[in-house]
Amino acid sequence: MILYGKVVKLRPIEQEDLEMLRELANDPWYEKMIVGWSFPISQKDQEEWYKEYKCNDKMIRYIIETEEDGAVGMIGLRDIDWKNGSASGGGMRIARKGLRTKGIATDAWMTQLKYAFNELRLNRVNGSAIDYNKASLRVTEKVGFKVEGVQRQAIFKNGTYHDVILLGVLKEDYEEVIAKTGYWDEDK
Ligand SMILES: CC(C)(COP(=O)(O)OP(=O)(O)OC[C@H]1O[C@@H](n2cnc3c(N)ncnc32)[C@H](O)[C@@H]1OP(=O)(O)O)[C@@H](O)C(=O)NCCC(=O)NCCS
Repeated sequence: MILYGKVVKLRPIEQEDLEMLRELANDPWYEKMIVGWSFPISQKDQEEWYKEYKCNDKMIRYIIETEEDGAVGMIGLRDIDWKNGSASGGGMRIARKGLRTKGIATDAWMTQLKYAFNELRLNRVNGSAIDYNKASLRVTEKVGFKVEGVQRQAIFKNGTYHDVILLGVLKEDYEEVIAKTGYWDEDK
């Protein structure tokens, strides 16, 4: 199902998104900001990956689209654990500098959490961020994530080790955000 937020539409990955996704995966700035890492991805590698790619009961990936700017980034859930009602957030990226700090990632997260808690019947979503990634820490805080721990020196980037902040949001945390901010009020 396609998900609609206040400004975003979360929809499946289409062939025409591949170039943007490849650029995101190969861009050194994103590699610096994310917890994960990858070798360079060629068009051929990516096409082979896309041939096999399907959302499944363990992982959902979305393209973030806005009416004004079209495809602007990605978000998703991975490691979905149906027994314990949990999943991890994955791959949140906003593709162009000019589109950042306009609330797009916040709306994408609120939309994804609404689906996770009210449709998939999950109870918690895990997250993590490198300690210097203030934008990611701020977005996750705004949508209800709480800091649950620190993995010291867990990530090696730019010649040095960095701590990873472990985060988690429960359904009740998300509901507290809605109650406090009236986030979805105009949808009623
Ligand atoms: C993290 C990211 C997705 C946020 O996207 P976005 O659409 O700009 O996020 P939003 O506009 O919804 O919110 C950003 C918040 O962070 C704040 N912020 C941004 N940069 C900041 C900084 N350097 N220091 C402190 N706060 C910062 C913004 O002011 C805003 O908070 P506010 O609404 O209280 O003012 C985007 O920066 C990105 O793509 N980063 C690279 C990939 C990445 O880090 N992914 C997360 C991996 S864990």
